[in-house]
Amino acid sequence: MIGRLNHVAIATADLDKAARVYRESLGARVSAPTAIPEHGVTVVFVETGNTKIELLQPLGANSPIAKFLEKNPDGGMHHLCFEVDDILSARDALKATGARALGDGEPKIGAHGKPVLFLHPKDFGGTLIEIEQA
Ligand code: CO
Repeated sequence: MIGRLNHVAIATADLDKAARVYRESLGARVSAPTAIPEHGVTVVFVETGNTKIELLQPLGANSPIAKFLEKNPDGGMHHLCFEVDDILSARDALKATGARALGDGEPKIGAHGKPVLFLHPKDFGGTLIEIEQA
């Protein structure tokens, strides 16, 4: 069902430092920071050729990654995002396996302007999974 790995999201409290590591130590192509207030994050996109890394820093008071950084002050992997052809049929197929979607279970428009859903980490080996209609 899942398609390409669209991105790996890494939460960080220090976006400049994280971007520098990818640019200077790893030699990757790294974007300028982009604030996405409606998602409560500032993002730096790292191009790796076969997928993207998204470095996320909390933005504003109710950032969805603030709690994660409280528990993981050094930052770390926050979620994996896989592409799907049809998000509603993917959701229904996942539900049928017992997997839980977060929130009200309805897709929302994600950081790339496409419908996304997040799936409960307890159903995926401790990893938060995002699916995005490609
Ligand atoms: Co994502």
